[in-house]
Amino acid sequence: MNIDIVPIPAPASADAPVDPLYEAYAHVFRVEDIDFFGNDDLASTAHERHVEDSDQTYHRAQRWVAFPEGERAPASAIGLAFVELTLTDNTHLAMAHIVTHPAHRGRGVAASLLPTVEAALRESGRTSIQVWANHHPYQGGDALSAKTGVGQIDPKTPQAHWLRTLGFELEQTERHSVLAIPAEGDQWWRELAERKERDTATAGDEYELLQWKGGIPPEFHDGYARLRERMSVDAPSAELDFEEEKWDAERIAKGIEQRTQSGYEWVSAFVRHTPSGALVAYTEMMWPGERPAGVWQMDTFVHGEHRGHRLGALVKAANLEFLRRENPAAERIHTWNAGENEYMLAINVELGFAPASIEGGWQKRVTTD
Ligand SMILES: CC(C)(COP(=O)(O)OP(=O)(O)OC[C@H]1O[C@@H](n2cnc3c(N)ncnc32)[C@H](O)[C@@H]1OP(=O)(O)O)[C@@H](O)C(=O)NCCC(=O)NCCS
Repeated sequence: MNIDIVPIPAPASADAPVDPLYEAYAHVFRVEDIDFFGNDDLASTAHERHVEDSDQTYHRAQRWVAFPEGERAPASAIGLAFVELTLTDNTHLAMAHIVTHPAHRGRGVAASLLPTVEAALRESGRTSIQVWANHHPYQGGDALSAKTGVGQIDPKTPQAHWLRTLGFELEQTERHSVLAIPAEGDQWWRELAERKERDTATAGDEYELLQWKGGIPPEFHDGYARLRERMSVDAPSAELDFEEEKWDAERIAKGIEQRTQSGYEWVSAFVRHTPSGALVAYTEMMWPGERPAGVWQMDTFVHGEHRGHRLGALVKAANLEFLRRENPAAERIHTWNAGENEYMLAINVELGFAPASIEGGWQKRVTTD
């Protein structure tokens, strides 16, 4: 089969019409997700990618779609690839990915996307390449462990085999877990409310809970930016080459605008330390407005100086109650935790999250000359 590799042009603005190539790109991701997870809860939409790519202040993406020669209808796409670069921090790093439509695997689609991706990576000059790939948990005797020692995957799967052939190492794994949200009136909700009450009492008078649906008010953007910076390096990242991200009020405002334009809805719970006025903890859950059943747990973070007061458990419980009010159609919550992040995993296990898959953080270091 002859294959056309077609680049997606960067959109002129978020309001410009969405190029059908984004529909083709989203189609391949969605089919892959349904094949791997059994649902499309995590699949991003064409519109979301279009909005994200329309602003290149913080981030630049190059994306390609593979088609059988001469075809361009979105549903005829057989593969995709991307290279993503952050522009204001982590300028040594490139994120890359290649996906072949599950019905077209083993016929050289990925191999034909590879030279284009490699050329873009070379041109970027970035020295660390990271690929995040999905794996099923695996217990076989030949299991491959991440270099952290946490998380075992099957080295024989196409993605593991290929990434190793290309010189990538499995640095870290994240446990992807799913909570089936209990029905209204279930004992689980009563226990959650009791736990929240206990955690509020343990936290004491110096901590105030704040909650917002959608964006947080501008007067908190600066404080939130400080937390995002700390979060970017405080969560365990093993030997993955992450540096602290640079966040400020402007970047926070842009992120809120982009999420809103992309059709997402989200709820967040923050804790403010009242004596200092500083925001010290937060958690967020987000979902696509048009597909509210599958909810994504985003960051949960407690500032290092305020740990040990049950603030992590408190924001999570508060946000779950908030989610029930704001998104009654929610059925499942997806979350990802570094396998070695025992504190966060313990909170999630206690809430009833069950392991679903493993996200492997693969890395390859390259020299530029
Ligand atoms: C990994 C993936 C991209 C391969 O796509 P594909 O179009 O089937 O791959 P190709 O036919 O072009 O083969 C490319 C390489 O994949 C590996 N591969 C493909 N099928 C394989 C199989 N059944 N078993 C083991 N390795 C396999 C091989 O290393 C192969 O190279 P080789 O032919 O020189 O041995 C595809 O399985 C996929 O989309 N997986 C989900 C997405 C993902 O995890 N991507 C991570 C890689 S960036």
